[in-house]
Amino acid sequence: KNQITIGLLGFGVVGSGVAKILQNHQEDLRHKLGVPVTIKKVLVKHIDKQRGTEFASDVFTNNLNDVINDPSIDLIVEVIGGTSEAKDAIERSLRAGKGVVTANKDVMAEYGMELLKLADENKCDLFYEASVGGGIPLIRTLEDGLASDRIRALTGIVNGTTNFILTKMKHENMSYEDALAEATELGFAEADPSADVDGIDAARKMVILASLSFSMEVRLEDVLVRGLKEIQDGDLELAAWFGYTVKLAGSAKKDVDGIEVAVEPVFFLNSHPLASVNNEYNAVYIYGDTVGETMFYGPGAGSLPTATSVTGDIIAACRNLLLGVNGKRLHAPQFERKVKSDSN
Ligand code: HSE
Repeated sequence: KNQITIGLLGFGVVGSGVAKILQNHQEDLRHKLGVPVTIKKVLVKHIDKQRGTEFASDVFTNNLNDVINDPSIDLIVEVIGGTSEAKDAIERSLRAGKGVVTANKDVMAEYGMELLKLADENKCDLFYEASVGGGIPLIRTLEDGLASDRIRALTGIVNGTTNFILTKMKHENMSYEDALAEATELGFAEADPSADVDGIDAARKMVILASLSFSMEVRLEDVLVRGLKEIQDGDLELAAWFGYTVKLAGSAKKDVDGIEVAVEPVFFLNSHPLASVNNEYNAVYIYGDTVGETMFYGPGAGSLPTATSVTGDIIAACRNLLLGVNGKRLHAPQFERKVKSDSN
């Protein structure tokens, strides 16, 4: 192979970031891989929209078949978001024998096991680093760096939008509505921001992290979810008065009785490191038997940070394509499902 050709599905906040990085860092990628990486087709809803990109207009298409059936396209990058259209596109790509890189937490939280199995069956890669923690490499950390450890617990902030809102309300006296509007403007919030503020987006990310950490099938219904609505007028001021900061936090624990996963507003003492994780930043603590306590911190949302994780996956997938291997990993969970709320 003397080049790798990509089909990009979606050209929103993340997709345009991916195109920018592949364009602006093309020499770096060529150096790291030995061959150039280029985007050949971009799937969009409206092909006539003005986008101010360097792509020739025939790069854009609104027909998924144009991308999947193009034999010169080696790898599909799915950044459409949402569930049904994206899941269908991932499945069809894998069935067509093309590896997939996705940023889609909705799809991976709900159908991750099924899709990873499909990827293995079709001898393709399916990478999803950008689905959790924006620019923080958490999935790779759990799959590789900490793979030999037994993870007992993780806790942290995994939604950028709610952290941005709570930060602006606390430190700039901004109203909830204005802060949400700004988070949307900056491209942090979901297309339907109720997924952010009601804690569902964080719950999906906790499902992905807990499944990997505990090698167990974790489902969205296993997560106790409480969103920002639980915070009453005056709570933030009261917390500040007593030296606490309110954050929407995710937690997951495993012991002999099973796992417990939750997303809820939590009071952190101001001296706790999570109290000073501000704006759209995320941070996750992982506690393992052998590693002890580790903490990962970085931008949890936004175009270029998220696109950095996507392009990291693109590089990993390209390496495999060039070596003629696929990232076959054992995706079947090691342990039977055992969820504490089930037994209560
Ligand atoms: N809406 C998400 C967030 C985007 O705010 O964290 C990144 O997954």
